[in-house]
Amino acid sequence: MTKADSSAASAAPDWAKVDLTQIPDIVTPPPGPASQACHARCTKHFKGLSGQVKLFPVAFESGRGCVLTDVDGNRYLDFSSGIYVATLGHCHPKVSEAIAKYANTLMNCHDFSTPIKTALVEKLAAILPGDLNGFQLYDSGATAVEAGLRVMRAATTHHEMISCFYDYHGKTYGAVSLGHVRSFVYGPARAPGCHMVPRPDVYRPLWTTDDGTIDTDKYIEFYDEYLDKATVHDVAGFVLEPIQGWGGTIMPPDDFFPKLRAFCDDKGILLMADEVLTSWGRTGKWLCMEHWDVVPDIVIIGKGFGNGFPVTCVAVREPYKESFESISASSSYGGNPMACAAALASTEVIEQEGLLARSAHLGEIALKRMEKMKSEHPIVGDVRAKGCLMGIELVKDRATKEPFDEAGKMVYQKAFQKGLAWIPAGHILRMSPPIVMDDDALMKGLDIIDEAIGETARELC
Ligand SMILES: Cc1ncc(COP(=O)(O)O)c(C=O)c1O
Repeated sequence: MTKADSSAASAAPDWAKVDLTQIPDIVTPPPGPASQACHARCTKHFKGLSGQVKLFPVAFESGRGCVLTDVDGNRYLDFSSGIYVATLGHCHPKVSEAIAKYANTLMNCHDFSTPIKTALVEKLAAILPGDLNGFQLYDSGATAVEAGLRVMRAATTHHEMISCFYDYHGKTYGAVSLGHVRSFVYGPARAPGCHMVPRPDVYRPLWTTDDGTIDTDKYIEFYDEYLDKATVHDVAGFVLEPIQGWGGTIMPPDDFFPKLRAFCDDKGILLMADEVLTSWGRTGKWLCMEHWDVVPDIVIIGKGFGNGFPVTCVAVREPYKESFESISASSSYGGNPMACAAALASTEVIEQEGLLARSAHLGEIALKRMEKMKSEHPIVGDVRAKGCLMGIELVKDRATKEPFDEAGKMVYQKAFQKGLAWIPAGHILRMSPPIVMDDDALMKGLDIIDEAIGETARELC
């Protein structure tokens, strides 16, 4: 359990309340003329866009709380938090003030100690579970993942790593080598010693018990066999997302991580949780792993950690702290004063505004609303939510569970046109509203999705 948890589900903070008589407000069908002109000029030079932008090329001007404004003056309800990043809404006054203070005080002094960094690491040691009390700071999820992998190797003096099908850990070479490589690599595939195994997906289980429930033991038995037969017995550990984000909000069964933790302990290998996406309130806890009372040996924290300021963290348990020395862990931007101020302010806001509980509450009411959608739309195969990490899986047929990609694309575009800014992923609709959102705004966003699913089903089915 967390050492300092927020208890009662607080009301949404006033500053982030969405006036639903005004929002969403589509004054020009998007992408409007100003968006199109800006996008055309920008993309003459700026290449390599995400699928999200390709499917809906608007240009954004500003954001405040849970509302985004495009350059045509259209205002959208934000169900994306950027890309799971602005967890506390856009431009949270306390976070922006903290960044501005250090932008005017001290921007960089390499990895020398500073009072603001000291305050941040002391805060992290106080709130993280177990003995996760050794830290290093970075400027992106991928660089932090790479450092975590280096710590893992240094701590164990072993070299092979195991991750899971459809995990995503970033786009540097080590991270790609432990992810869904086909989408992100041009050239040689994985780095040597990087292995991939299946992981339990409650909606699409590979192995089930006689009563049809997912059989977690079979996955663990498979890992045992795999370690023995498919590695050179030089395994440093497992690297996993607690819930797969890019893969489509794929939830593990509740008994999976406790069993994997016990398996790793039994084999003498480490467990690294890539919580870049799932940490800092996104799922209603500081770390998603706390839902299952599991303390990983290494944790990567990112995205919402600085609420938009690029700051990420590698946290390790007491016995592995000294391994940061062996890997020469420092970097140019890691732990700069603005970054530390952003992370500390974000952490304090989550505590002071009771936002862990708020995120958990939003997940609960969203799940009920999405269950209703499932009961009304046969193309909705599965719905899931943990805190403000949500997903709706669209299928052509509930019996075969065949993915319905065209529907996913169409629902995404239709909802965007109605004023919902969010994240597509093929047939799985992904939602990550800011955790400061009020209940009515959340319901409004889900109503828009419901409407878009209904229209799509009528057009495609
Ligand atoms: C689980 C996970 N790990 C790592 C990353 C990479 O983070 P970044 O894009 O900041 O490098 C991401 C980004 O989406 C992620 O979701």
